[in-house]
Amino acid sequence: MCGIVGYIGDKQAFPILIKGLKRLEYRGYDSAGIAIIGEETNTFKIKGKVSDLENFVVNEDTSGNIGMGHTRWATHGEPNNDNAHPHTSTHGKFIVIHNGIIENYSTLKESLLEKGYSFKSETDTEVLANLIEYFYLKGGVTAEEAVRFALQKVSGAYALVVLSHDEDDKLIAARKGSPLVIGIGDHEYYVASDATPIVEHTKSVIYLNDFDIAILKKNELSLKTIKNIKITPKIQKIDLEISSIEKGGFDHFMLKEIFEQPETVLNTIRGRVSAETKTIQHGGILSVLPQIVNAKRLIIIACGTSWHAGLVGEYLFEEFARVPVEVEYASEFRYRNPVLYKDDVVIAISQSGETADTLAGIRLAQDAGALVIGICNVVGSSIARETTAGIYTYAGPEIGVASTKAFTSQVTALTSLSLMIAKEKNTIEQSLYENLISELVEIPSKIELILQQNEKFRAIAAMYKDAENFLYLGRGFFFPVALEGALKLKEISYIHAEGYPAAEMKHGPIALIDKKMPVVVIAAKDKSYDKIVSNIQEVKARKGIVIAVVTQGDTVIRKMADHVLEIPKSHEALAAILAVIPLQLLSYHIAVMRDCNIDQPRNLAKSVTVE
Ligand code: G6P
Repeated sequence: MCGIVGYIGDKQAFPILIKGLKRLEYRGYDSAGIAIIGEETNTFKIKGKVSDLENFVVNEDTSGNIGMGHTRWATHGEPNNDNAHPHTSTHGKFIVIHNGIIENYSTLKESLLEKGYSFKSETDTEVLANLIEYFYLKGGVTAEEAVRFALQKVSGAYALVVLSHDEDDKLIAARKGSPLVIGIGDHEYYVASDATPIVEHTKSVIYLNDFDIAILKKNELSLKTIKNIKITPKIQKIDLEISSIEKGGFDHFMLKEIFEQPETVLNTIRGRVSAETKTIQHGGILSVLPQIVNAKRLIIIACGTSWHAGLVGEYLFEEFARVPVEVEYASEFRYRNPVLYKDDVVIAISQSGETADTLAGIRLAQDAGALVIGICNVVGSSIARETTAGIYTYAGPEIGVASTKAFTSQVTALTSLSLMIAKEKNTIEQSLYENLISELVEIPSKIELILQQNEKFRAIAAMYKDAENFLYLGRGFFFPVALEGALKLKEISYIHAEGYPAAEMKHGPIALIDKKMPVVVIAAKDKSYDKIVSNIQEVKARKGIVIAVVTQGDTVIRKMADHVLEIPKSHEALAAILAVIPLQLLSYHIAVMRDCNIDQPRNLAKSVTVE
């Protein structure tokens, strides 16, 4: 949440900042701003999107070779021009952009008010700008020292970039809890919340760690800790193609990402799952394999869609590896004083690898002595770096705020991991193991077949785009799919939707069913097929509209349901990956028809780096 970008070098900063902000807009998009050092320092900020900012400054002087930009997801203070970043300190000595939350901001603000500092916004960031200025004006310190002193007084999370009025040849960047990447160009540096604004300029990057401070000058980078200890920068090469962060002819990133799934699922299993040798090898967890195999319990922690993938993981691990699994919302887990044992293994699932609650859950589990492994998409992310071992999903950048390809890759990774562990533990029959491997490698081509029915899904969407409520039902592996289907719909179309275990319908939601209520039932062939058929009957008996996801060739449900969305036949443990695809497309088309902002739904952000 909130995107940060900065540039220092010989080029004009403005176009780099604007383009960078557009790439980061998935992180927040309620207001945007820039500060550029040219002949003089100019700051522009406005409520709205980056394109609004671009229009706003069209007749302004935006020239200069040093600058920074911000796109906001509001935490403290509603989206308006005053609360937009950058924030300038009372006496104009410092300009700050920030991603995160300064938790003790109100105490700091009171003390700064007493010292005569004034505030134009309701943000925690302005407190930071004034606090830095306070230390600076106390005298005898450089801008960098003032930043360090101020940061030692704050609690909470931050990624920030600071411009100093008196030392206008540098950018000062610092991180704790929120991500920040430095890009190293030719006599120039970039800084950003992630690598997407940087990748077209350079592939050499440094990921800042918590409590790092980077001082960027045109020809010099110095890296220190907040306590002024010098650090040797660890330069890494990023493997990110520009095409992967552009829409590539699709109307929206979300649609592109849905259609990428045959490829992204393949990327998750590539080199790991072999149909020829009937083996599964996740190199990233080999060093801790004995601990995973001997774990008495697995605890999966995640948020949002990743939590839904974790629920599928629970069914997979219990079914095949015969190990008890608990799936926890990271935000509940971390605050609940959970009982953890040394032989617990915690699996943290995260697309971004930056979700604040998931990161905090990881740290809590590690402090309790548990092994934590990660399943992450973003290479080099905080979660990937803080976990002992892990699996990258390799789904590529996911930019649409509603997660699609990340989910199917997470479930694919969990499927192959559960089978690998089951094989090690000898809890799966060889024939089933081999059969599931063969089926897993066929999943990408089966996804392709589902995508070919896109027009049909669009036609069904057109019929129900004005519905006010949706219910999603599923059993077993398809229960998490029901939750995910409902989440996709509410996220992007703003239609109220609930996911429920189908059998629980009788304990409440059945009261909602009437002839206006579409009920999406995930009813592909599995061991509880007959039961779900009964549930469909129960909905139809109350005149509900049934949209059923069924296995290709199903004739029974076809006769009862109002519409069927077919997925190719597969083992039920793998069908979750397939069953979610029609639901993604249904939500997508409904949201398009309702004229919603698909890639940037209201109030949401892709990467939730605040708690
Ligand atoms: C936000 C995003 C969701 C995502 C969740 C967890 O809510 O909008 O799409 O599932 O965060 O994010 P993570 O990066 O940890 O998977």
